[in-house]
Amino acid sequence: MRLPDSVNVLLLGGGGREHTFACKIAQSRRLSKLYIAPGNGGTAELGSNVDLSAANLAVLKCFIVSQHINLVVVGPEEPLVRGVVDQLRDDPDTHLVPVIGPTAKGAALEGSKDFAKAFMMRHNIPTAAYRSFTDVAQGEAFLETLAPPYVLKADGLAAGKGVSIVGTLPEAKSELAAMLGGRFGEAGSRVVIEQYLNGIECSVFVATDGANYKILPVAKDYKRAGEGDTGPNTGGMGAVSPVAFADETFMERVCTRIIKPTIEGLRSEKIDYKGFIFIGLMNVDGDPYVIEYNVRMGDPETEVVLPRVKSDVVELFEAIAYGGLDRYELEISPDTAATVVCVSEGYPGEYAKGSPVTGLADVEKSLVFHAGTTLKGGSPVTSGGRVLAVTSLDATLEGALAKCYESIGRIEYQGKTFRADIGRDLLKYNR
Ligand code: AMP
Ligand code: GLY
Repeated sequence: MRLPDSVNVLLLGGGGREHTFACKIAQSRRLSKLYIAPGNGGTAELGSNVDLSAANLAVLKCFIVSQHINLVVVGPEEPLVRGVVDQLRDDPDTHLVPVIGPTAKGAALEGSKDFAKAFMMRHNIPTAAYRSFTDVAQGEAFLETLAPPYVLKADGLAAGKGVSIVGTLPEAKSELAAMLGGRFGEAGSRVVIEQYLNGIECSVFVATDGANYKILPVAKDYKRAGEGDTGPNTGGMGAVSPVAFADETFMERVCTRIIKPTIEGLRSEKIDYKGFIFIGLMNVDGDPYVIEYNVRMGDPETEVVLPRVKSDVVELFEAIAYGGLDRYELEISPDTAATVVCVSEGYPGEYAKGSPVTGLADVEKSLVFHAGTTLKGGSPVTSGGRVLAVTSLDATLEGALAKCYESIGRIEYQGKTFRADIGRDLLKYNR
């Protein structure tokens, strides 16, 4: 099976990741029409934004049929965890339309930390030792056997806020009680407590057709709001790719110890997985351990990974959907990509919306991906905490970063805030 020569694509999502996907899809020689639901101020220039929620299944199905959609690409995790792939596959009206993303069973790798940990145990995949609890007293008793720092994770999806790392036993106990007591609702009704891993993190992205896989460029993201990795966790303040410490020896270990057993494990458990696996890794003295699985591409990592992919992304989707990914030629640019996320002042807390974004036409050396903008009278205004991801490519990391910051200097909106130290920790590896 193949996609038709000319493909109508529906992309679900509306952040920087989706704008980046939309750019790559728009460059494909196989594209006919691109729809983005809901999209943002940036995607509107590349296709048609449609006001449609993946949660409204009846409307989604109706749109797929009426607009002759040939391919659905799911950006965020939520619809996947809720089972949108299964729902479209099980409906006679949409079952022939391939969807990029795993079924609900596969998406549980992100939707349930407990499931992910048990999966790793079953397949001997290196990860922090753990136990999971639904009972406060039992959890407390376990915490008492551990040394600090303590790592506690709400089992379910908690919008990136479900992980707590604390330095003392009383704090750990109070976090445990708060999580089990409903701070994250149902997502925290089970809590995973795990061993703290000391190392440096990176993100590995794998595309799979369920049997074969391709490794996309490795990236490192910057999650904390403040410079020097301080302050609260965010969706991501920047990213770079490649990551110098993820060298050949390390990646060989990632491949044999993690990627292969993950794909083989999914197969042996008959989990239908056609999409992306994002493996959050800790490099502990050269040995990789899985921190988490995500069942989609990362944001803002996509903003540095995809600009380095030179091959046709619709053809990549075709190989993911119909098999034969082993025959797909993934072409990667040797350049370094860096992205710096411009956020609204106050993010990840309260922030203002509706400020006009100006200067975008003056940006010459970077790609500007919209993350939280919407069009007002045809011009972009801020609509989210993460507003723009400014990506640059260069032969060196220094060069890419310099271009990002120069471009950011040309862009204005009220409350423009960004980290000036993205990638700085990696410069020492690049000399
Ligand atoms: P997650 O939401 O699972 O990505 O976790 C958020 C962050 O917490 C990760 O990016 C790591 O920086 C940190 N983290 C999670 N698990 C551990 C662990 N076992 N040891 C050390 N740091 C961790
Ligand atoms: N940048 C982390 C994520 O997408 O979850």
